[in-house]
Amino acid sequence: MKVEIGAERPDHFKESWPGEYSYFSHYEHGAIVPQVLSLITTLKENGKPNAAFHAGTVFAGDPTGYYAMMPGLSFSHTYTNILRDKEFCINFLSSEYYDACKKTVEENGDETDEISAGGFTPEPCKTIGGFRIKEAILSFECKLTSVQDITGQNRLFLVIGQVQLGIVDERCHMLEHICGAKGFMYNIPAAQNPLKTERMPTAAAFLTPFMVKE
Ligand SMILES: Cc1cc2nc3c(=O)[nH]c(=O)nc-3n(C[C@H](O)[C@H](O)[C@H](O)COP(=O)(O)O)c2cc1C
Repeated sequence: MKVEIGAERPDHFKESWPGEYSYFSHYEHGAIVPQVLSLITTLKENGKPNAAFHAGTVFAGDPTGYYAMMPGLSFSHTYTNILRDKEFCINFLSSEYYDACKKTVEENGDETDEISAGGFTPEPCKTIGGFRIKEAILSFECKLTSVQDITGQNRLFLVIGQVQLGIVDERCHMLEHICGAKGFMYNIPAAQNPLKTERMPTAAAFLTPFMVKE
């Protein structure tokens, strides 16, 4: 059976913490699309390394370049840093680093080196300022090309950057380094039963590959 969910939040979709739905759309929980997780690194105005857990970056490219599209950025150090310095680094980490990435959310002070707070090893970026994450399976150093106000109400932004440098693992072509516990991780935020008030706990996921006929 399919259930249709309208643009207005159904009454039985309850907040799991006060104010939840003043930040999030009910579709994020009621119509889950797993989104790839990454750690965005930038520099704070005082030069301290900043790291932010982020879900949903996608990529598109052609001979002019390869572009990272980071949707759903709200007001944060990351957004402010990117607007100011016009550069950022996207680091993809495997599932063993989920808790370490979460730590960077909890340790979010202006004076905090968030890369160290997460227990990560900083490596100086080569084409932009700031640091990338040594433990990442893949990092992209990016220069900002544009910012769009997604809602038209100055709440949520799409940041687009052109990749200047990709830092890949020598095993990045192997399925076990793309999929599985050592590969990319995806966000599955507190799924909502579309028919009842029931909510599942937040989960994360990784990929299981299957071979396709060519
Ligand atoms: C699993 C997960 C996914 C997240 N995805 C996003 C996101 O897509 N966009 C966003 O603005 N914040 C997201 N956050 C929240 C930020 O990581 C959090 O607000 C962080 O503290 C911002 O850091 P900053 O102020 O240092 O930039 C996510 C948090 C978690 C735990």
